[in-house]
Amino acid sequence: MRKKLIAANWKMYKTPEQARDFVAAFLPQVREHRRDEVVLCPAFVSIPAVVEALGHSSGIGVGGQDVFWENEGAYTGEISAFMLSAAGCSHVIIGHSERRQYFGETDDTVNRKLRAALLGGLKPIVCVGEVIQEREAGLTEDVLRRQCSTAFRGISGAQAIPMAVAYEPVWAIGTGKTATPELAGEAHRVIRAEVAEAFGEGVAGQMRILYGGSVKPENAKLLMSHPDIDGALVGGASLDPKSFAAIVKSVFQK
Ligand code: PGA
Repeated sequence: MRKKLIAANWKMYKTPEQARDFVAAFLPQVREHRRDEVVLCPAFVSIPAVVEALGHSSGIGVGGQDVFWENEGAYTGEISAFMLSAAGCSHVIIGHSERRQYFGETDDTVNRKLRAALLGGLKPIVCVGEVIQEREAGLTEDVLRRQCSTAFRGISGAQAIPMAVAYEPVWAIGTGKTATPELAGEAHRVIRAEVAEAFGEGVAGQMRILYGGSVKPENAKLLMSHPDIDGALVGGASLDPKSFAAIVKSVFQK
């Protein structure tokens, strides 16, 4: 059985103070629940506040929302895997569709970032997913295969083990339209086949493939009960401690 992974993607929300308030409200609600593996991904400036507020024994990880592929250098505005790790991060989101859409992220830059994150000891959550026009044109499988095979280039099976992939159909992000468990399950099987091709069946059997796109307390349990869905990347519903705790509680039992 693969352990479920539930990650909160806060996007460009929450100052350090608001992030601290979230943790103070969230932790008591999930304290009794088995919660491996839960990760909060704040904006860069709020990472130290979240790391400090969680303390050492919360069992909750912290992740960046992006990373650059060099360790250091003259790259104004960028953050390296080494810096994220030094700030207390265990995870990092790579290739989110908003980065692809607004900031010129490509399959190739996703690959460079993924390799850097793995070398830097972070657990990457690599995002893939089709836009509505691609789905309507019957291209979903091709898009997922291309995004995965390029992202995985030059990475060995042993290196790939800490990685998770998030299937996030772009038409479901922030729209309230959730993929059905069957539809997500189909995409997850395509992704797992690509993982198997790149890294072997053993790694493919272990790798968590998450679903993201309008996950809410009301639909989390049903989605997560599908055998091919190994967790969730949650945007909007992760901003409120009560609703994110409800998602965590619906997935992890006491
Ligand atoms: P959403 O966002 O849950 O608000 O749809 C998910 C994501 O962008 O990761």
